[in-house]
Amino acid sequence: MDEIKIFCPASVANMSCGFDVLGFCLSPVGDEMVIRKTNSPGVKITKIEGQDLPLDVKKNVAGIAAEALLKEHPTQTGFEIEIYKNIKAGSGIGSSAASAAGAVFGINELLNKPFTATELITFAMEGEALASGAAHADNVAPVLMGGITLVRTVDPVDVIKLPTPNELTAVILHPKIELKTLHAREIIKKNVTMEKAIKQWGNLGAFVSALFNEDYDLISRSLKDEIVEPMRSLLIPEFDSLKKASIDAGALGFGISGSGPSVFALTKGKDTAHKVSKVINQIISSIGIDFEIHISEINKHGIKILPN
Ligand code: HSE
Repeated sequence: MDEIKIFCPASVANMSCGFDVLGFCLSPVGDEMVIRKTNSPGVKITKIEGQDLPLDVKKNVAGIAAEALLKEHPTQTGFEIEIYKNIKAGSGIGSSAASAAGAVFGINELLNKPFTATELITFAMEGEALASGAAHADNVAPVLMGGITLVRTVDPVDVIKLPTPNELTAVILHPKIELKTLHAREIIKKNVTMEKAIKQWGNLGAFVSALFNEDYDLISRSLKDEIVEPMRSLLIPEFDSLKKASIDAGALGFGISGSGPSVFALTKGKDTAHKVSKVINQIISSIGIDFEIHISEINKHGIKILPN
């Protein structure tokens, strides 16, 4: 195979109770990438459509991630990357992760898969570090592994794929204002009280158990974030009313997607997801911000190879 075309899905990191450790992969939104072998060694980004991002491999998350992979697999083969962006940078649904994960996934396929998913996550994380100032894997892991993932540690990378309850459905609101992860990380306090830490790890443990047991009530009780959400939610228009209306409409939980400004609700089933989407639509329409709403099942497969 000399060329591969892939769909690189968006993702939701943190999932309220798992800052920097939990994430899940979305179905309907994503970028496309074409990666092809060339005769001149190294990586070149030859085309980016849909967004104004640098072609310079040292300044582009896809380029950084691709070079991290090739450093561990020296070869005379070169790689050209084309990126067709649909996920807006700074949207909070893993735009940089899709590009970084796509680059390493595609090159790994073209090299006949010398690397494991864990190794690909390690390379993709180097791209994430460029975008957000910190090497976190909670977006790249679900994109590369599919489903819902838990990052136990990033050094070394140790990621667990969690089960996805069948009816679990996500509603995503992307208010079209840009919030840079770098900035959204700077505003977080660096210390957490023991009281809050206890609540958070109680919720995280319960959430993981709830996924294994398809216990939607426990999912609902666990989707809480008392550490990061109070600070970051101040940057998101109508956060409190969106959250209240979503819960009133039957959502299991509601929180910030990654570093925002996108927010997410989880529901049991599509019918409730449509009700939640409707109330979200009413609130956000009333304040005159451009927005998109997506209803998505949890994408259990992650990156998909497309016909050329
Ligand atoms: N866990 C990261 C953060 C995800 O919240 O900063 C960024 O998309």
